[in-house]
Amino acid sequence: MTTRAPAAAPGIEATSLQPRRHLLDLDDMGFAEITTILDSAEAMREVLHRSIKKVPSLRGKVVLTLFLEPSTRTRVSFEQAGKMLSADVINIGGSGSSAEKGESLLNTALTLQAMHADILIIRHEASGAPYFLARSLENTSVVNAGDGRHAHPTQALLDLLTMRDHLESLAGAKVVIVGDALHSRVVRSDIFGLVASGASVTLSGPPTMIPLDLLNPRGAPSLPGVAVEPDLDTAIVDADVVMALRIQKERQDAGMMPSLREYTRRWQINEDRMRLAKPGALIMHPGPMNEGVEITSSLAHGSAQIEEQVTNGVAVRMAVLYQLLQGSDGGSLT
Ligand code: NCD
Repeated sequence: MTTRAPAAAPGIEATSLQPRRHLLDLDDMGFAEITTILDSAEAMREVLHRSIKKVPSLRGKVVLTLFLEPSTRTRVSFEQAGKMLSADVINIGGSGSSAEKGESLLNTALTLQAMHADILIIRHEASGAPYFLARSLENTSVVNAGDGRHAHPTQALLDLLTMRDHLESLAGAKVVIVGDALHSRVVRSDIFGLVASGASVTLSGPPTMIPLDLLNPRGAPSLPGVAVEPDLDTAIVDADVVMALRIQKERQDAGMMPSLREYTRRWQINEDRMRLAKPGALIMHPGPMNEGVEITSSLAHGSAQIEEQVTNGVAVRMAVLYQLLQGSDGGSLT
């Protein structure tokens, strides 16, 4: 497959491409590799528009999804991506598998490796679980589909693709991410990808929901390119992209926010607030939404790019599966 030669964003060094066996996060991914994956995803996206949505690129490959936390769009889009590339895709969930009988994650993964799985896509409540498997499995690639509150690299890649589709360049773009950053694995991966692409990130939301590890002890952002502005009406001014995050009730302690009503009043993405952003600014949400809380229904089902994100999720996951497996023997996108 041919890809556009990646041009580095101003001030960003293009790193040389290394063949990659696992995709665990974007923290070790430079602009050049991100560009290669997104270019590949653009080519893959074209397959989605064909009447026969299938190419033979990964024929004979075995892709396993092991989702031990709930998921709709991520699980289905990995499955769809694998099937569109002609891989054999097998889905395993927590209930109905030996995980329910108390089998350890490692033993489950070793069993799946012994069945000659080429790729294991894992979602797990424990941060770090995919890293542990990547270290333990010799013959199977591991893809992180979301680990605890840590990382969600394919969500970040699909977010970057969606932004790249609309903005001339991500270099210099202002991206405002609003809400429960503390519990969000999406925001952490997004930050790495956005900063590598030369964008600036402003986090906004209740101070109790801003991750302290992003701040140095004096309360200033410790990552270059990342700012914190709790007041959304200030943060949103001149934004190119506004992204709402879901309030992750399942990971929250009590007392993290005043009340849903107060949250909605201060941090909901609505039409009035969007007038403070740049005209035509993108409105994004990784889903699932608490509709009417983080974002108004009219924006979510109106001018927002949320469904584009979902479509791009399939294309990006096709690109990731293809890139990880093409090292083993490849195949062409025909
Ligand atoms: C996200 C996740 O699971 O981290 N959802 C997704 O994959 N699209 C965000 C969330 O659950 O809020």
